[in-house]
Amino acid sequence: MLGIAIIIGSTRPGRKGEAVAKWAYEIAQKRSDAEFELVDIKDFNLPLLDEPMPPIMGRYTHDHTKRWSEKIASFDGYVFVTPEYNHATSGALKNAIDFLHAEWVNKAAGFIGYGGASGARAVENLRLIMGELQVATVRAQVGLSMFTDFENFSVFKPAPNQEKHVHVMLDQVIAWATALKTLREKQDSAG
Ligand SMILES: Cc1cc2nc3c(=O)[nH]c(=O)nc-3n(C[C@H](O)[C@H](O)[C@H](O)COP(=O)(O)O)c2cc1C
Repeated sequence: MLGIAIIIGSTRPGRKGEAVAKWAYEIAQKRSDAEFELVDIKDFNLPLLDEPMPPIMGRYTHDHTKRWSEKIASFDGYVFVTPEYNHATSGALKNAIDFLHAEWVNKAAGFIGYGGASGARAVENLRLIMGELQVATVRAQVGLSMFTDFENFSVFKPAPNQEKHVHVMLDQVIAWATALKTLREKQDSAG
């Protein structure tokens, strides 16, 4: 069975990302074509990148990096739940991504963005980053607007049609994660 992580991309107190990710996780639980897990980068207490060697070398020295590496390596694909901060993703999510390299390679990813402009620019920013890490990003994405999916710009109340968008995005993530299996197997046997 494929394993897909739903990654909460914000860490600040009072973040809306947690409610958004939990909603997506509940929707994903209705499916039987993959196993889903909520991954909260906050739980990994990652400092600003503090590894002496570039992650592409895979020579990690810190326990927090090894723990994060093991978690991310265990999945076939990811759904990034990203806020939009200054027209980009969050610094916390970018930092967590930067900690690793091989763990992301030949996986598939989909996005759920949220913000004033539905997180669209944050998702575009993440797509560029994923390209460098050889993560296949799917076309379908979920965009949650502060104007129509959050009551009074505050409480998360997604419009009814958003659930359908989550499923379309997950369909594509699962299809691509499956298609990339061969490459991941080659990568594993090459060490
Ligand atoms: C540092 C910062 C920068 C932001 N910049 C943008 C922005 O460029 N575009 C936007 O639509 N919303 C922006 N917002 C609003 C966020 O999208 C909104 O606060 C959202 O709830 C943040 O996600 P979080 O609550 O999970 O941290 C910004 C918020 C913060 C804290």
